[in-house]
Amino acid sequence: MRQNNEVEENKDNKSVSPESGHAPLVLSLKSEAGGLLRTLKLFQEKQMNLIQMSSRKTKRQNSQFEIVLDCHSDREQLNEIIQLLQRQMTIADMDSPDKSCFPGEDIPWFPKKISDLDKCSNHVLMYGLDLHADHPGFKDNFYRKRRKHFADIAMSYKHGDPIPRIQFTEEEVKTWGVVFRELSQLYPSYACREYVRNLPLLSQHCGYREDNIPQLEDVSRFLWERTGFTIRPVAGYLSPRDFLAGLAFRVFHCTQYIRHSSDPLYTPEPDTCHELLGHVPLLAEPSFAQFSQEMGLASLGASDDSVQKLATCYFFTVEFGLCKQEGKLKAYGAGLLSSISELKHALSGNAKVMPFDPRITCKQECIITTFQDVYFVSESFEEAKVKMREFAKSIKRPFTVRYNPYTRSVDVLKDTSSIIALVEELKYELDTVGEVLRRLNKQ
Ligand SMILES: [Fe+2]
Repeated sequence: MRQNNEVEENKDNKSVSPESGHAPLVLSLKSEAGGLLRTLKLFQEKQMNLIQMSSRKTKRQNSQFEIVLDCHSDREQLNEIIQLLQRQMTIADMDSPDKSCFPGEDIPWFPKKISDLDKCSNHVLMYGLDLHADHPGFKDNFYRKRRKHFADIAMSYKHGDPIPRIQFTEEEVKTWGVVFRELSQLYPSYACREYVRNLPLLSQHCGYREDNIPQLEDVSRFLWERTGFTIRPVAGYLSPRDFLAGLAFRVFHCTQYIRHSSDPLYTPEPDTCHELLGHVPLLAEPSFAQFSQEMGLASLGASDDSVQKLATCYFFTVEFGLCKQEGKLKAYGAGLLSSISELKHALSGNAKVMPFDPRITCKQECIITTFQDVYFVSESFEEAKVKMREFAKSIKRPFTVRYNPYTRSVDVLKDTSSIIALVEELKYELDTVGEVLRRLNKQ
């Protein structure tokens, strides 16, 4: 999956004040006539910019469906609408942005724990259910039905659920087979060594074969054991903010549908071939997983402008990145590793190549319809991580976040008590290192 920079840019052009932010609200309305209509009228009366609305099945009690509303608002408007909703509606349950961590400050909402991704993983900006008129599957009713099936799965998915297994059609397997066969011939000479090393493990453990489309659930379990990453199904493009937020929790949003069979080597959007062949082999690599997560953590609560810069760096590394190995250029970006023509182009010796430097890379234009104008090269994931870490320090936030792997949540470090807890943990880690060193010295 890659986040849609283009759509985000368009969204930013809307008249949104600098103090305003993206705010997801999830409501479970009790079964009563007109509840949804009255909710929408409240938004209209308050002239709040409702960007998106969707419904999905819920496991909460008293209600069969929940409504996800995504709005741009400032703190005052948001508090007002929440109060009105609570006063005027019969709401079974409601999740609203928790800003209690940052009294008096306008920090964009962000998930604090992994299950909070349920509030923002369904905000699909593009495609999802409706295909554009120039999409290869636009006139194919069967394909559209299949896409609806995949979108329904993604939209009703909740954290902790197993990812539903798919009975892929013969045609879908055939399309995957063409992509798998053609790309597999290129990987030994074009892909970075970490990719080449991990791909056979996926064949062994997750059924990566020409005649079999791997199941996301199997892949998710495999990644969890290797790097702590898990997969979450998604219906289409997410905004950069929502997509990067997933990475902070080592969650990778993956599409589950297959591109249209009319042209197996072309897709106008990320599909499961792109995810499984482009992204997954490197998500199984610890150093790459860490690099991806750090980019996600840097995005939490950052301004729209900072998120856009991070998303551009993500685009030119995780999607279109090159690295140097044994004196040769190799690809590690998923956009390259899932596209025969661009993979050959990027490594042909004719493409423009520059060293990866986040301060420069973040200003480069991302192209989603044709080849990139320039590709950025890192010496290693380690080097890219160090550079991104330095760059992340330039992002202005009144706090620092740290991932807590025990609770799969982020600790917001903003005062002495939160730092004391961190120091206690570090002391334990350092004691362990000291103990090992003492043992080694005795030997
Ligand atoms: Fe991608």
